[in-house]
Amino acid sequence: MLAFLLKEKKVIYLLQLRRLLLKNEPLSLAPFVQAQLDPILMDPWHSLGEWFANGDSTPFATAHGKHLFEYAGDDPRLNHLFNEAMESDARLIMSVLIKNGKRVFEGLTSLVDVGGGIGTVAKATSNAFLELKCSVFDLPHVVEGLEGGNNLSYIAGDMFKSVPSADTILLKWILHDWSDKDCAKILKKCKEAIPSKENGGKVIVIDTVIDNQKGDDKSFETQLFLDVLMMVHVSGKERNEQEWAKLFSDAGFSDYKISPILGLRSVIKVYPYIELVK
Ligand SMILES: C[S@@+](CC[C@H](N)C(=O)[O-])C[C@H]1O[C@@H](n2cnc3c(N)ncnc32)[C@H](O)[C@@H]1O
Repeated sequence: MLAFLLKEKKVIYLLQLRRLLLKNEPLSLAPFVQAQLDPILMDPWHSLGEWFANGDSTPFATAHGKHLFEYAGDDPRLNHLFNEAMESDARLIMSVLIKNGKRVFEGLTSLVDVGGGIGTVAKATSNAFLELKCSVFDLPHVVEGLEGGNNLSYIAGDMFKSVPSADTILLKWILHDWSDKDCAKILKKCKEAIPSKENGGKVIVIDTVIDNQKGDDKSFETQLFLDVLMMVHVSGKERNEQEWAKLFSDAGFSDYKISPILGLRSVIKVYPYIELVK
């Protein structure tokens, strides 16, 4: 009987999960799936063999001759498709974070969402915390024409050159797009943009922390699939806790705290070294 009930519970859970693929569901992930199945994002999977033999940065570059974000800047259709896909994921994550993990944002005075896409995370945060000054920072082709509001603004720029100043920098699904070397560059720019730890400076990372101990085989398989996906589309990877720790310490951050939020995703609060008075 117990086995039957457990099976029954799993079936109900799977049925509920399937609703996320329906277009009209408020938290639908259909745009994410649609983007992944688009020929522009599928073709690189067919270029893996060629990519193994050439020196291109990614299978995406082998298939299309340029980096994904450059391609999105040149092709409004892909730009729209990609931004909508990211929006659907951000909507789901924020619905959980604002409901169950609101304290992540409590007490903050200013926040820049670096690589924040069309602003789904920043909009949810600025609506929930009216005193918090939120900015979305992304490439010009992503934020051009978007209008902010009372405590929300859009800034165009390149995170490898500089990042706007704030108490808190948010990086959701950014670092897994890049190699360790590029992440070090991004994190250093973030560190330059925030005050010291004692003055409230921090970086909040929302990303996967690979862990093959806690979940089941399916969960680990999904984590590894995401890792390969990052290799195929961008020159990134998924990281375990040791890899995250090394990334943070190499970029000049002293400590971090990981809190799981939903499925494979965690919030990682990262703090700069305390400046010692000479
Ligand atoms: C995987 S998406 C994540 C979007 C959003 N943070 C989210 O999770 O919904 C990566 C984002 O980084 C942005 N990006 C890529 N290169 C960038 C750069 N050099 N400077 C600023 N943003 C960049 C892309 O345009 C894209 O919006």
